[in-house]
Amino acid sequence: MNQGNRDGFASRFGVIAAAAGSAVGLGNVWRFPYVVGENGGGAFLLVYLGFVLAIGVPVMLSELLIGRKSQRNIFGAFHVLAPGRPWFLIGLMGVGAAFMILSFYSVVAGWTMEYLYLAFTNQLATVSSVELNQIFSEVKSGAWRPVFFMVVFMAMTAFIVKSGINKGIEKYSKLLMPVLFVIIVLLCIRSVTLEGASAGLEFLFRPDFSRITPHVVLEALGQAFFSLSLGMGVMATYGSYIKKGESLGKTAISVSLTDTAIAILSGIAIFPAVFAFGIEPGAGPGLVFVTLPGIFSKMIGGYFFAFIFFALLVIAALTSSISLLEVVVAYFTEELKMRRRAATWLAAGLMTLLGLICAFNSTVFNLFDNTSSNILLPLGGFFIVVFVGWFLGHNIVRSELEADGRVARYFHLFLVVIKIVAPVAIALVFLNQLGLINF
Ligand code: PFF
Repeated sequence: MNQGNRDGFASRFGVIAAAAGSAVGLGNVWRFPYVVGENGGGAFLLVYLGFVLAIGVPVMLSELLIGRKSQRNIFGAFHVLAPGRPWFLIGLMGVGAAFMILSFYSVVAGWTMEYLYLAFTNQLATVSSVELNQIFSEVKSGAWRPVFFMVVFMAMTAFIVKSGINKGIEKYSKLLMPVLFVIIVLLCIRSVTLEGASAGLEFLFRPDFSRITPHVVLEALGQAFFSLSLGMGVMATYGSYIKKGESLGKTAISVSLTDTAIAILSGIAIFPAVFAFGIEPGAGPGLVFVTLPGIFSKMIGGYFFAFIFFALLVIAALTSSISLLEVVVAYFTEELKMRRRAATWLAAGLMTLLGLICAFNSTVFNLFDNTSSNILLPLGGFFIVVFVGWFLGHNIVRSELEADGRVARYFHLFLVVIKIVAPVAIALVFLNQLGLINF
């Protein structure tokens, strides 16, 4: 338990498991490998790593700091730290973004549960690639079972969140994250031991610097934001549950490195298999839902590996979705004074309704996806670093960073990054995504 009677993370491992659980999600296992493949393999990877360290870590640290200093949800945090100022609008935007992201995220989670079911009942193994394409189109267009699974997924998310931080989010993250890690390592071992796997590793790791363009650089920053769960108050909310004795700097580094490691391991699990079976590293959702089942059906142990792969996706999605729901539940309980249980079921119920709309209407799905990832996250991230860098006051920032009793030797570097480097970089990505500037 944390200060006073506020619920909180009890252990250091619990903090890392929960925050890394939020960061590690569909963005790592599905999106990252594909984006790497599209943007020059190893060279993209280097740029991505640079961004995670130079911008992702400082932005994450800023969010954790806002949360722990204020001991509030993302909306209340700005009320406490900047009373009477309009900064709370950033908090409202975060709550809105959580609604939007979880609505479409839960739809994709429903697809992954459907594939877990298909893998378990051995319905993926004997079908042709044409049929795999057909299955995926049906799943995408709102077939009843994936939609049913989406509702089940939201119920699981709500069940964990309603149980609280320590007894819910921390407990299940500590259980699920090691499972996720074991699964991904098993998949990597299977993938790299396939004959012809080395072409896939080369594709992933050999840097081709000629492929680095301004667009590739911006893609890398966008991916870093989404993958690290930044810009909408997830890390601030989790930060508010971290004890004063914990180092926020170490937490930000550990979580960012874990997220990056899992993304790279996903690439190692996927590309060697794709290349070993002579398939083009296809684009978009098809890679995970069409290409991979085709590969599993041809490999030794395919039934088992298909099953654990889709289990991996479900677990990754679940530990991310609980963090999104928690942003809203913390807001409902602290600002609207609702009981936790009621707040959880209300928020989850509303999100499920929005999710149903996304499941049946791809225009709404894409609208939510694009608005949240391309607009709300970078905008939120921008204002969060500007707030901490220019508004919060250096003494407050320093005392929070040093609350564990150790001198934060990186303090001045951190200030330069959050005052100048990060806002400028985020502004460039944002303007580019809006089409206001074009590289
Ligand atoms: N980081 C998650 C992923 O990589 O799948 C997605 C996500 C979760 C984005 C939470 C934003 C967020 F606030």
